[in-house]
Amino acid sequence: MNIHDSEKIAGILESLGYTVCDSVEKADIVVFNTCCIRETAEQKIYGHIGAIKKLKQKNPRLIAVVCGCMSQQEGVADKIKASYPYIDIVLGTSNLNLLADAIKMAQQKKKHYSVEFLQYREEDFKQSRTSYPNAWVNINYGCNNFCTYCIVPYVRGRERSRPMEDILTEVNHLLSEGYKEITLLGQNVNSYGHDLESGESFAQLLHEIGKIEGKFRLRFMTSHPKDLSQDVIDAIASYPNICDNIHLPVQSGSNRVLKQMNRRYTRENYFDLIKKIRKSLPHVGITTDIMVGFPGETEEDFMDTLDLVRRVKYSSAFCFVYSRRKGTPAYSMENQIPYSVKRDRITRLLACQNEVTKEISQTMVGQCYEVLVEGANFKYQDTMCGRTESGRLVNFKCDDSYIGKFVTVKIERASSATLWGRIVTEE
Ligand code: 5AD
Ligand code: SF4
Repeated sequence: MNIHDSEKIAGILESLGYTVCDSVEKADIVVFNTCCIRETAEQKIYGHIGAIKKLKQKNPRLIAVVCGCMSQQEGVADKIKASYPYIDIVLGTSNLNLLADAIKMAQQKKKHYSVEFLQYREEDFKQSRTSYPNAWVNINYGCNNFCTYCIVPYVRGRERSRPMEDILTEVNHLLSEGYKEITLLGQNVNSYGHDLESGESFAQLLHEIGKIEGKFRLRFMTSHPKDLSQDVIDAIASYPNICDNIHLPVQSGSNRVLKQMNRRYTRENYFDLIKKIRKSLPHVGITTDIMVGFPGETEEDFMDTLDLVRRVKYSSAFCFVYSRRKGTPAYSMENQIPYSVKRDRITRLLACQNEVTKEISQTMVGQCYEVLVEGANFKYQDTMCGRTESGRLVNFKCDDSYIGKFVTVKIERASSATLWGRIVTEE
């Protein structure tokens, strides 16, 4: 979501005549698109903001902007104004539409532009896309779920779905421009349409995009397990262009913790859902987000998470240490878990998921998969990478003229999460 917001910000800057430069020392404008999902993300940003002071002394024309989720939080804009007075503009996620005017004001040296974050407004900004052959497309904004650990509903507001017609126009336009993969974005794509008078649903949207002719891939993220319906699973199964790949954050394997997190499903519900998905989509790749160290998480709760990970067999998992976010209910819960315990659990969780990934990788060796070539793997010479339909990243030798092409790759070896292969046929 943030990468895509950055593409919108870059589009706004380009429309004002700015172009990308290769080092911050040469820049006339620096925009920090911030994240506040975990404390570490915030700490990093404050370090970068501090470094702007020196750059401004060298280049008084430099305009510095802080926007995104962090600055949307209550009190943060005031804190930035007070502690970092050399920042010219502070905007939140709700008012990116004001960025162009704010920059024009800063260019005229009308200092310190920051606004009240009251209304959420999305506009169709010209976007400067950076992820060819993939293009991100927002389908809904915000979140109504209020998981007790999560800051997102407070900084991104209530759920707002984009009209289906606008989404379809954007998708068709991107495909006509040559994009080969569309990734639909929403904090909870499965609740798409709930707020639309027309009553359209996510399954309907998948059908409409699935029907579009031509070869391309459709992915989407993120799905909340409580809202992923059989209709959606059927829609994925009905169209070859919709990838058999679902990101289904579980967060914890313990019913007690899931309840405390306000996730509104049990581990049994989750297992049933996985069963339904695998029945309709036998080759599906399922990925997840998992958190350790939620307040009150016992060793037994954590063992339930490890057990779930072993049973579901995710192709990969994003694993996080719980981070206390001010303003969320979990912030004031008792029994916050000491860092040493969190660290121990995350190490064990990563090791457990690594084993699972390795096991799946081994079964892929010797098999052929269709892969969309995405770009260079800069660690290795003449090596490109791309994804299988199920979402696994594969490395193989070829040059960059292949970017955006579908090729068939035979997997030759696997080292845990990394797959290596050879192109056997191309489009
Ligand atoms: N601490 C740690 N991880 C978090 N996430 C959301 N909030 C927090 C938090 N306070 C994780 C969840 C979510 C992913 C995007 O980030 O796992 O699915
Ligand atoms: Fe956060 Fe929960 Fe909404 Fe995901 S569903 S953005 S974890 S509140």
